[in-house]
Amino acid sequence: MKKFTKVLMGAGAIAVSAMAMNAQAADGKALYTEKNCHTCHGADGNAPIMPLYPKLAGQNKEYLVAQMKDIKSGARANGMSMAMKAMVMNVSDEEFTAIAEYLANVK
Ligand code: HEC
Repeated sequence: MKKFTKVLMGAGAIAVSAMAMNAQAADGKALYTEKNCHTCHGADGNAPIMPLYPKLAGQNKEYLVAQMKDIKSGARANGMSMAMKAMVMNVSDEEFTAIAEYLANVK
């Protein structure tokens, strides 16, 4: 009986961590649409609406987060950054990370 309880608890822990991982991946994808990122960068960050708008899909997570923070803070203010800056003013660092995680894993 003792052994049986232990096995059940182990299975529960695996199920919970799998759910937590799914929730994080889904969040980034949902945020990408919620924050209207797709209106410029296209579905899954793969089809920007203008040649001057960057593709984001498959880019490294760390790089994406750094660029979003720099555009938000104004540290990056080149060519088209103004178009993007207004969009990230209400996006938090946690949300940047979730979105970057999603975009980095788009195939
Ligand atoms: C109004 C159009 C527009 C919207 C909406 C928009 N962006 Fe951008 N984004 C741009 C443009 C234009 C650039 C390139 C800026 C430049 O030239 O410096 C850019 C750059 C970026 C970069 C840097 C890419 C690189 O290769 O350096 C990231 C990351 C990014 N956007 C993510 C997002 C996310 C996430 C959202 C939603 C919160 C979003 N963008 C919404 C237009 C937009």
